[in-house]
Amino acid sequence: MLSPFDCALLRLLSFFSVGEFRLLLICIVSTLPTPTAIASAVAFQTEDESCTAEVVNVVFIDRSGQKIPVQGKVGDDVLHLAQRHGIDLEGACEASLACSTCHVYVSQDFVDKLPTPDEQEEDMLDMAPLLQENSRLGCQIILSKELEGAEFTLPKITRNFYVDGHVPKPH
Ligand code: FES
Repeated sequence: MLSPFDCALLRLLSFFSVGEFRLLLICIVSTLPTPTAIASAVAFQTEDESCTAEVVNVVFIDRSGQKIPVQGKVGDDVLHLAQRHGIDLEGACEASLACSTCHVYVSQDFVDKLPTPDEQEEDMLDMAPLLQENSRLGCQIILSKELEGAEFTLPKITRNFYVDGHVPKPH
């Protein structure tokens, strides 16, 4: 016995002539993936595997001391990586080196693996509260494979110049 779906399908197909039915089949077949599409899907998968090779595992330690392991990629900056994972790193100036709200402490073993901070970063760090030897601005730390396993600790406080009334001078 035919199901209601089969009956509806038969009724629908009865509207088509043989020629139209053939056309319908051609349309359906044309939606199937071509060899080129399959090849590009495979290529994408391969690209994806190379992306996996670019993964960098780091750990954030938030203001309560909780460790939050995070997977970043080579080329990510620490500020935006933290924000993508809901970690409370402010970044008031959107990485334009006009604040210190992205201040983090870099775990000792990794400080020397970072490029030396430039003068602008040093100037902003000088205004960061609770400055330490291993202080850096998160927006200026770009992940590399060398930073695999690095820990970034958020200081207990940061100072938002805009909210506190300080207006940074134009460069
Ligand atoms: S977000 Fe302002 S200096 Fe990093």
